[in-house]
Amino acid sequence: MKRMLSAVKPTGKLTLGNYIGAIRNFVKYQNDYEMIVFIANLHCITVYQEPEELKKNLKDAAALYMACGLDPEKTTMFLQTDVMEHAELGYIMACNTYLGELNRMTQFKDKMAKGESGLSAGLYTYPCLMAADILLYDADYVPVGDDQKQHVELTRDIAQRFNNRYGETFKLPEPLVQQVGKRIMMLNDPYHKMSKSENNDKGCIYLLDDLNVIRKKIMSAVTDSYGEIKVDQERQPGIYNLLEIYSALTDISKEEIAAEFKGKGYGEFKKAVADVVVQEIEKIQKRYNEIIKENIIEDVLNEGALKAHKMAFKKVKKVERKIGIDIHKRK
Ligand code: TYM
Repeated sequence: MKRMLSAVKPTGKLTLGNYIGAIRNFVKYQNDYEMIVFIANLHCITVYQEPEELKKNLKDAAALYMACGLDPEKTTMFLQTDVMEHAELGYIMACNTYLGELNRMTQFKDKMAKGESGLSAGLYTYPCLMAADILLYDADYVPVGDDQKQHVELTRDIAQRFNNRYGETFKLPEPLVQQVGKRIMMLNDPYHKMSKSENNDKGCIYLLDDLNVIRKKIMSAVTDSYGEIKVDQERQPGIYNLLEIYSALTDISKEEIAAEFKGKGYGEFKKAVADVVVQEIEKIQKRYNEIIKENIIEDVLNEGALKAHKMAFKKVKKVERKIGIDIHKRK
């Protein structure tokens, strides 16, 4: 069975973008692949997090993974820091990555371009840690949203270079990006990716938002003055984004949806999108509340970490022998 690996970095509350672009796909794939999904808590701290809030977000992320349908019987789920080999291989990967490669990462470049100050060294080297996350487990595929594709491609380059230098060690992973829902945009600013934002909560739907709030956010999504529901990302990015969300959650194509709403007003269309989103998130929240009550998160994460650690330990030792830093005799 081919192996698939992915992760989410819950620096904030999980969003509809995380769900559509990533988590929902993990759930679909878990039946056909050996699935590993972890909570990237080391990645979270590349930017300062208020500790109590971070703890809450990490627990919520674990509960939400399961609430969205990840089944611990099928998917290995764990907290990144419970498998220390991530940090260890991350450092080794950083020693095998060029500054030029990190300088080309668009996420970092964007932050630099915005003139953000106080960026940490961890944020800069984070693609090396992400490469380690993937290569530790010989993942065949890495399902991600569009914004993470570049990091998986860098992972391939690092792995290839390592294999050339030290002999075959790592499997080269492939990014898997779904056509529909790969980049959900802010509802009130369809030119920017939906993500947690300190001063723009209106544009972002959180999986644990009150259902009425979700409805309101969708009803006040930015549209345009054309007054027609068409699939035209360039001219109608707001409508396109709503079509994308609707399509991702129903598996109906954007064209079919646009045809269904031909001649109807934006208000009616938004209401239909809100219905679909609320229906989906209501199910997730119901299950989330049950999981919190059942108190099973700790056990699931511990069991997942044990399984993951076995694989990761073997891999790191192999790497250390290859590069010559392990001098112990082992069987
Ligand atoms: P993160 O936490 O930013 O996002 C988690 C996943 O959600 C996807 N995503 C989106 N997809 C569509 N539309 C959006 N608006 C949207 N926002 C987020 C992301 O593409 C991603 O798939 N570095 C990673 C976490 C990570 C990882 C890994 C992923 C750490 N190690 C190893 C895969 C393999 C990150 O920050 O994702």
